[in-house]
Amino acid sequence: MATVQLPGLIDAHVHLREPGYTHKEDFYTGTAAALAGGVTAVLDMPNTVPPTDTPARFAQKAALAAAKAVCDVGLFVGATTDQLDAYLPIAPRACGLKIYVSETFGSLRIEDLGLLHRFFRTWGEKATEMAGDTPHSALGPVAVHAEELMLPVCLNLSHLYDVPLHIVHVTRRSEIELIRRAKDRGYPVTCEVTPHHLFLSSDDLPRLAARGDMRPRLATPDDVAAMWENLAVVDIFATDHAPHTLAEKAGPTPPPGVPGVETMLPLLLTAVHDGRLTLDDILLRCEENPRRVYGLPSQPDTFVQVDVDARYELSDAGQRTKAGWTPFAGWSVFGKVEKVTLRGRVVYDGDRILADPGSGRVLFQSV
Ligand code: NCD
Ligand code: ZN
Repeated sequence: MATVQLPGLIDAHVHLREPGYTHKEDFYTGTAAALAGGVTAVLDMPNTVPPTDTPARFAQKAALAAAKAVCDVGLFVGATTDQLDAYLPIAPRACGLKIYVSETFGSLRIEDLGLLHRFFRTWGEKATEMAGDTPHSALGPVAVHAEELMLPVCLNLSHLYDVPLHIVHVTRRSEIELIRRAKDRGYPVTCEVTPHHLFLSSDDLPRLAARGDMRPRLATPDDVAAMWENLAVVDIFATDHAPHTLAEKAGPTPPPGVPGVETMLPLLLTAVHDGRLTLDDILLRCEENPRRVYGLPSQPDTFVQVDVDARYELSDAGQRTKAGWTPFAGWSVFGKVEKVTLRGRVVYDGDRILADPGSGRVLFQSV
């Protein structure tokens, strides 16, 4: 039995579903699941109902998170076709601007080049206006879900407007190779890959059916191999924790998305056990880089104790997410979280959540 102490991990891409979809998840259940997974800060996506696209809606969401979260939460604002510049005044209180340009769950999708220009231009102008003014300094990045041909479009808009770009959940060989080239050319780009796109492929689809359906879809084994070959290009591992209920997944039009916030660490530690990753690979991509890319404040006296030799089977019943399932059910993994300490207080003891709802902080709200 080898207990290792890690810093609190950051999951830079989660959907905590509140407001609007609290039958799938809410700020308490989602952040409790995060703590059980060794994650002490999450960045929450804007595709809720209503979407997080105006100051009033942002304030409503921040109040819900402040009342219920047990780990720290950063909130994205979302680009929408009907509100356009409405979110700009609250940009400094967001961890970044999320733009969905490819197929996704929910109503937020931008497919118009003129609008895309405008979002990059105005975010860049706001960042210039804010520079030096706030602890969050020049604002977070524009984070895009941009697959295939939309990827070079976004890379070039970011380059042309000199706005930092973060590509969420990269899955294809062609995409990671293009990002490598953009980085080599000095483009201001970073990217993330999910555990499910590292550990599952389209070969798993017959077995998983709707449980293996998410956007981007599971990619080919060659695409998965490309993620591993290009690990140096991958800045962040983030889960895209996208809980939907099993009843919804079994229905006639299953929504895309899979839970993940509490299975990331054991899956990655199992890859360390198998010699495919080092512990430093994990810490770089689950702590150091997300903090740098999003300018997140440090969490003093925050640790995760994990028994890296403890082996167990992941199961639906073992999940804390309200969704109550994992696409990795039945997988044998290493790495059991024994204790999580957040700002000096034990918030998870390996079994129970000890933190009070509302003890998590909503990041960037003091600006
Ligand atoms: C996400 C969701 O359910 O909110 N679904 C998914 O398949 N990833 C939306 C998204 O991240 O695109
Ligand atoms: Zn997502």
